[in-house]
Formats: sequence, structure tokens, C-alpha cells
Amino acid sequence: MSGIKICGMGHYAPPKLMTNEDLTKIVDTSDEWITTRTGIKTRHHCVEETHADMCREAARMALKNAGVAPEEIGACIVATLTPDYLAPSAACLVQRDVGLPNDTVCFDLNGACSGFLFAMHTMECLLAASPRKYGLVIGAEMLSRFINWQDRGTCVLFGDAAGAAVVEWSEEYESIHALLGCHGDSDMLGVTGAGHADPPQIFMHGQPVFKFAVTAVPWCIDQVLARNGRTVDDVDFFVFHQANARIIDLAVRKYRIPEEKYYKNIERYGNTSAASIPTVLSELAQQGRVGSGSRVLLVGFGGGLTWGAALVEFK
Ligand code: COA
Repeated sequence: MSGIKICGMGHYAPPKLMTNEDLTKIVDTSDEWITTRTGIKTRHHCVEETHADMCREAARMALKNAGVAPEEIGACIVATLTPDYLAPSAACLVQRDVGLPNDTVCFDLNGACSGFLFAMHTMECLLAASPRKYGLVIGAEMLSRFINWQDRGTCVLFGDAAGAAVVEWSEEYESIHALLGCHGDSDMLGVTGAGHADPPQIFMHGQPVFKFAVTAVPWCIDQVLARNGRTVDDVDFFVFHQANARIIDLAVRKYRIPEEKYYKNIERYGNTSAASIPTVLSELAQQGRVGSGSRVLLVGFGGGLTWGAALVEFK
């Protein structure tokens, strides 16, 4: 036996809110269309804040809540596809801004909207070999910089935020048994990069991605429960990637998850990609709805196409 548990969570979102009403002044859309199709009412957009600012604030809050000092951190992974720089990595800037030791293993990881799950699994493996047993796992995105304002199908969906978890590795803990995968595809959903002459932009074919998501989510739940030898009743809380309220509602109905065991903040945040799962976890911890001993099932899906799930416990 060996694995990680969450010791503390933190999150940060820039104060500027873009409402559905604000968007109607930019593209041909309506509050009614956005609300009924996605469940989104507002999203946070950075104005003067940087990606590094969001990571720093989320990380400091997570360390404080965990009661862990920066010197105790052995590794820091930032799951992101929108860092301030392609190099230095966002994780190197966290090392500087939070004061992590110079020998902390710091790097970024791109698993798109499933990134936080890829990072948790990677951290579990890394800490097993680390002399310091605490790790910092951050999901952070500044997607507002890559919005295609000519595309009303995507420009209403995305927002900026960061969420952070301090985790501890121990031989006494069970593994999170993360289930991760991808189906390589460059057409359905993504953000363009060096292979394109124009500046990076988000692109998505909404309907096939929706179909992929509603298939991937229950498949991930079934697989991760089987892998852990658990049932739906053993789970204290379900945390879904917040891409569309309808995708979450379908899963909730399928598994008959009671209202007190799941949470949506998509109405206020929109889709914040790798930041969405840790932001939800941090809000839940802040509200006292998850805490010491809670067993939480995390499910994510997104560009890649990637998917991931894990069963994590709070210390
Ligand atoms: N406002 C008003 N109308 C809009 C609109 C907007 N913001 N965006 C699209 N439309 C229109 C389309 O132009 C289309 O009109 P038409 O029928 O006259 O051509 C109509 O609405 C339906 O478009 P469609 O793209 O089929 O809508 P949809 O019901 O599939 O909803 C999404 C669009 C994006 C909300 C939905 O497909 C979705 O949530 N997909 C999955 C997203 C996801 O999970 N992404 C992330 C993974 S990390």
C-alpha cells in the first residue's frame, strides 16, 4: 500500500466578472441561450492579473489550510495549457513566488481539462521517490486570452481561475488509483499553437464533444470504482469537471447521486479547464462539505481528447 491524501485546498479567481449580458454586447447571443444550454451565468476574466498571480494565491491558501510550510514541499506540478510563458514553466514561477526550496521538482503538465487528474497521478508517483513527502498540485488557466470572439459557440464558455492542493504521500495511504487515457484528435477541441501562423485560439465542435463527454463520464466512474473495489455508496462526494451543467445533470441522474453529494460552480465560473476540479474541491472544503476522512470521486474530460478519474481521500 502507498499513496497520497489531500491535506489542504486553495483557489483564486480574478475579481472581474463577465456576465451573459456583457457577452450580448460582443456577439449575437442571449442570457437565455447560454443559461439553458450550459448553465453558465458569469465567468472570471483576468484584467491585470497574470497566470502566475493566480497560481501564487491558490498555492498560498492551500499551504495555509494544510498547515504545511513551503520548505516541506518536494514537488510542484502545474496542470495548465495557458501559462504566462512557454518557458519558464508556471511551476518554476510558483517556486519563486511561494518560496519553495530550490531542489523542488517543478514542471508543467498539459492534460487539458483532465490535467488536474494527470497531475495528481504524476505527483503520487513522484513523491514515492522524493525525500520530502508533501507535494503541491495546481490546476490553473487563463483561457480568456485565447478566446475566439468571432465564434459564439465557444466564446461564452470559458473563464480564468486557479485551484491548488497540498498532498501528502505515505506508505500507509491507499493509492488514488487514477484512471487516465486519451484518444489523440486535433479537430474536435483544443487551442492552436506553434503549428499555426495565427495567435493561439480555442476551437471546438460542441456536439461531438458533448457526446464524448456523456459517454466518458459514466465509463470513468464505473472503471475507477471497480479499480478501487468500491461502489457509488462508498463515495462521500462526486466532483465533476465543470464544462456544461447538462453533462453533470445526466451523470447525477444515471447514478442517482443525492443533491448533498455533488456540486456545481459552473454558473459562476464557466469552464476553467484544469482549474475546474481543484476550484470545486477548494470551495467544498471552505464550506466544510468535504474534510478529514472524506472520500471524493473526481472525474474529468477534455481536449486531447483526454479523460481521467480518481478516488481521493482527505487527510
Ligand atoms: N448564442 C446563441 N446561439 C448560439 C450560440 C450562442 N452563444 N452558440 C451557438 N449557437 C447556435 C448555433 O449557431 C446553432 O444555430 P443553428 O441551429 O441556427 O445553426 C445552435 O445554436 C445550436 O448549436 P450547437 O453547437 O448545436 O449547440 P449545442 O446545443 O450543441 O450547445 C454547447 C453548444 C457548446 C453548449 C454544447 O455543444 C456543449 O456543451 N458541448 C460540450 C462542451 C464541452 O464539454 N466542452 C469542453 C470539454 S472540456
